[in-house]
Amino acid sequence: MALLLLLFLANILTISEGTCEPGIVKQIHLLRPRSGAGGNSIPGLSCLSWRLAVETNNIIGWKTVPEECEEYVGHYMLGKQYRKDSRAVAKEAFLYAQSLKLAGDGKDIWIFDIDETTLSNTPYYAQHGFGAEPYNATLFDKWVMEGAAPALPESLWLYNKLLSLGIKVVFLTGRHESQRNTTASNLKNVGYHAWNKLILKEPSKYSGKTAVFYKSKEREMLEKKGYRIIGNMGDQWSDLLGTNTGNRTFKLPDPMYYIS
Ligand SMILES: *[C@@H]1O[C@H](CO)[C@@H](O)[C@H](O)[C@H]1NC(C)=O
Ligand SMILES: *[C@@H]1O[C@H](CO)[C@@H](O)[C@H](O)[C@H]1NC(C)=O
Ligand SMILES: *[C@@H]1O[C@H](CO)[C@@H](O)[C@H](O)[C@H]1NC(C)=O
Ligand SMILES: [Mg+2]
Repeated sequence: MALLLLLFLANILTISEGTCEPGIVKQIHLLRPRSGAGGNSIPGLSCLSWRLAVETNNIIGWKTVPEECEEYVGHYMLGKQYRKDSRAVAKEAFLYAQSLKLAGDGKDIWIFDIDETTLSNTPYYAQHGFGAEPYNATLFDKWVMEGAAPALPESLWLYNKLLSLGIKVVFLTGRHESQRNTTASNLKNVGYHAWNKLILKEPSKYSGKTAVFYKSKEREMLEKKGYRIIGNMGDQWSDLLGTNTGNRTFKLPDPMYYIS
């Protein structure tokens, strides 16, 4: 109510001033109450800014979600916005894939990351502060070995669309080779019924290396084998940066953790 009154007064002021560039002045007055300036504070805005900076890779190398944003991230992940944001990415990826003229020789591949891309660990993170608690490898691995992660529905939708376009799917994940069977059955159980390759990390080969290094190397090897990476989708920038990144990359939201 107070906001409305303020808007109303701001409009009257603008109109009565009525000198130069009234449109612009009016816009500025209209924007102020909504963006939280001029003494108006909007709860949650700073966490939204934090999330935006994370998604745009401006904030990097962070270890945990800021404590005061735990609830915000929880609401985001379990509410409609996470799904809407994911849907926007999947739809855009499909429109792109559909627009391509493909050779049809089985060498056109789409790379999907797994965690927070094709599978969702939200059930785990919901019990661990949505990323506000420090990462616990023991507990997380235990969850992975349950093989109970649901699909991110938007990615499953895209996966099926890509297959129907004749595009082959390659999963490239930071999960370890020792988690192959569990991961494969988890993928199958939630609807990813077929793939060209499931590439997991060989810890001995990549010990001490970043995800950017590991994933770039594996993509390079795929291209050397004659595959064409037409699309590449992941929730981490480290899925999409480096070399041999593919013709287009698609970033899914993930405000819960950061992997370099
Ligand atoms: C991980 O969680 C287990 C079980 O709660 C606990 O015993 C262990 O100390 C934790 N590890 C770290 C590094 O926090
Ligand atoms: C994984 O499954 C394959 C065949 O299904 C089996 O031969 C292999 O022993 C399994 N590996 C582990 C680590 O369970
Ligand atoms: C992918 O990029 C390469 C290199 O720029 C280009 O030659 C190729 O036509 C592109 N493929 C598709 C399907 O757009
Ligand atoms: Mg991931």
